[in-house]
Amino acid sequence: MPQPAPETLDALGLPRWLLRARAGSGAGEVAQATGGVAAVTDSEPAVAASRAGAVPPASTLAAASLAVSAPTNTGRSADVVETLEALRAEVAGCQACALAGGRTQTVFGNGNPHARWMFIGEAPGRDEDARGEPFVGKAGRLLGAMLNALGLTRDEVYVANVVKCRPPHNRDPEAAERAACRGYLDAQIRAVKPELLIALGRVAAASLLETDAALGTLRGRIHALPGSELPVVVTYHPAYLLRQPVHKARVWEDLLRARQLVVPQVV
Ligand code: URA
Ligand code: SF4
Repeated sequence: MPQPAPETLDALGLPRWLLRARAGSGAGEVAQATGGVAAVTDSEPAVAASRAGAVPPASTLAAASLAVSAPTNTGRSADVVETLEALRAEVAGCQACALAGGRTQTVFGNGNPHARWMFIGEAPGRDEDARGEPFVGKAGRLLGAMLNALGLTRDEVYVANVVKCRPPHNRDPEAAERAACRGYLDAQIRAVKPELLIALGRVAAASLLETDAALGTLRGRIHALPGSELPVVVTYHPAYLLRQPVHKARVWEDLLRARQLVVPQVV
């Protein structure tokens, strides 16, 4: 059973990706968001948030990490792999929306075809367009660190985007482009059959949940994918966290909430 690598946790047992918040940024905001301490003096907002109760103490984390990840589904057939590969080939030739014209290559998605967790981002950026893989740039490295803190690796989860081609200048994919690409994402979800979806950022959340609601109002509860019972947890996009590290504490909260959905409770 995978455990968080020791180097992903600090001496207090808190994940290092969380602690690498920019010193001094928005500590008060975290305290406010968590209903916590009135005067936050700590220069590391995430630490302050953990003291304010936003992040479980080290002991909770340690206990939780014991049960991080049950074995991925092993009994499922190789058909899933075949289905995904056929879909990947179909996407590679897709010209269904205007984004086709600007891509170097399509970015289908990757990870464990039998993953329990499926992370959904917005659209390929420059690095992804160049490599043909999702989340391989800076935001991808942060996503990897977040996964490691949960005791997961990129190989264990499945990662895909709402649209498979890079929008020009990294603009948000338009509604028509998201709609044109949606069938592929739905087919990926049907093939992988994850136990939950994590929507990374507003575009993914809006697409999956078919809503215009602000991300902040979608966090903090568990949604269901419309037309199904598949749980969807909404959190901030790692690229946003790179600009606003103060929100890392909230993302960690979201991820721990999500983990309760896939991990049988420890008794
Ligand atoms: N941002 C995304 O939403 N997806 C990627 O694949 C990379 C960055
Ligand atoms: Fe096809 Fe999706 Fe690329 Fe549009 S974004 S061309 S629908 S693969």
